[in-house]
Amino acid sequence: MRHAPMQFLTRVAIRYGGVARIPLARGFLYLVSGPELIKALLVDHRTRFIKNTRYSVMQRVLGQGLLLSEGDVWRRQRLAAQPSFKPGALERQVSWMSPMIADYLDGWDARKDRDAIVELSPEFERLAQSLAGRLLFGSVFAQHAAAILGITESMRKYWPSVPRLWRPLTKKRQAENARHLEQTLAELDAQILALIGESQAAAEPCMLSTLRADAADGCKPFTTAELCDQMKTLFFAGYETTATSMIWTHYLLGRHGAVRARVLQEVDQIPAGRTLTVEQLDALPYVEQVFKETLRLYSPIHSLSRVALEECELGGYVLPKGATAMVSLYASHRLPQHWPHPRRFDPERFTPAHSAARHRFSYLPFAAGHRNCIGATLAMVEAKLIIAQIARRFHLHLVTRAPVRPHAGTTMHPSHEIRVRIEPRRTA
Ligand code: HEM
Repeated sequence: MRHAPMQFLTRVAIRYGGVARIPLARGFLYLVSGPELIKALLVDHRTRFIKNTRYSVMQRVLGQGLLLSEGDVWRRQRLAAQPSFKPGALERQVSWMSPMIADYLDGWDARKDRDAIVELSPEFERLAQSLAGRLLFGSVFAQHAAAILGITESMRKYWPSVPRLWRPLTKKRQAENARHLEQTLAELDAQILALIGESQAAAEPCMLSTLRADAADGCKPFTTAELCDQMKTLFFAGYETTATSMIWTHYLLGRHGAVRARVLQEVDQIPAGRTLTVEQLDALPYVEQVFKETLRLYSPIHSLSRVALEECELGGYVLPKGATAMVSLYASHRLPQHWPHPRRFDPERFTPAHSAARHRFSYLPFAAGHRNCIGATLAMVEAKLIIAQIARRFHLHLVTRAPVRPHAGTTMHPSHEIRVRIEPRRTA
């Protein structure tokens, strides 16, 4: 469990199925596996569980934003944010997202040292942050982009990794890290508050302006502190998952030449140009399959965790009040009865016919039920734009040869940097 938690949980899920009680240093973890029981946990018995917010650092960063809030506070936030994630609203975003991605890729074209080896994670983090920042705050984000990038780098450095109950850091190291992290988080709050003020003054339509408009519909306006929590939540939930999924996608494309060739075949059918339209995105079904298969193998959110508010029976197993129930998306996406040859990267699994034949709860990269990912459709739009725009212009030659393992942090990253050489294909 300590050295390879994902693989351990997968073995437990395959061997025991149902509910498996795993002893940890302090108490037990109840691993819930199989689509029927996952549905029971996330949908049928949803009122008997709340999200696990025992991870207090996350609370400190995101506060009472949409990801961690509960009850009426959550409901109000979800309703207020929802209009920005509706298909019509998302289609409007493509008109600035696609040129923004194209401008970013111009930077790759303009590099003097064509043979330089590049690490994927800083590239995709910068791009994903710019997209999330512009979406949330409008164009004013650009002036804060460098500062926010620095802050997220320090957060990573001082973050107390996953709560590894079985391997705590020394008290001294914990205290030092906590002090640095606290300073960094204070800087983050200052940046977000400044952005909220500047975005309001600029009066450009963005997600923040939609949240403010919610008050015009007769609801009590959000306080600045509430807006700050919400903006931080949407920023982190939006950018980190997108960046991580892009790293995995390009790692897999680098390893699977035949899949990449089919992607090229599809994107090259689109008339040449720097950007893509919404209609052109619809003409990329194979790119979508590639992205879905990447999320199956390497779901950026690797697990969902819930706490039982009362004793609850799931499939004949009794979970006591206060029990931590966990769904490992990594394990769920590798159950051989739902995913033949589960380790194989095979986008054919996501043809419409194959997808329709599967249990809805066997594939959960965006979770399911009332706390599912509000940004799932947006994530798909962003991913297709990025994958297709890169594929039209560049070949990312994988330089990393060492085996890459998933590392379960707050999101599931590759165990070490993925390095590529960026070679321009042709002028798009
Ligand atoms: C590949 C990209 C993404 C993946 C894999 C992903 C995955 C998920 C998952 C699994 C959850 C449920 C977490 C839990 O129950 O503990 C979630 C929730 C959430 N996601 Fe995403 N997400 C992605 C992109 C985005 C984007 C682009 C946004 C917004 C800009 C976003 C905003 C949120 C929010 C606000 C929640 C909490 C929703 C609620 O509890 O009502 N996500 N996401």
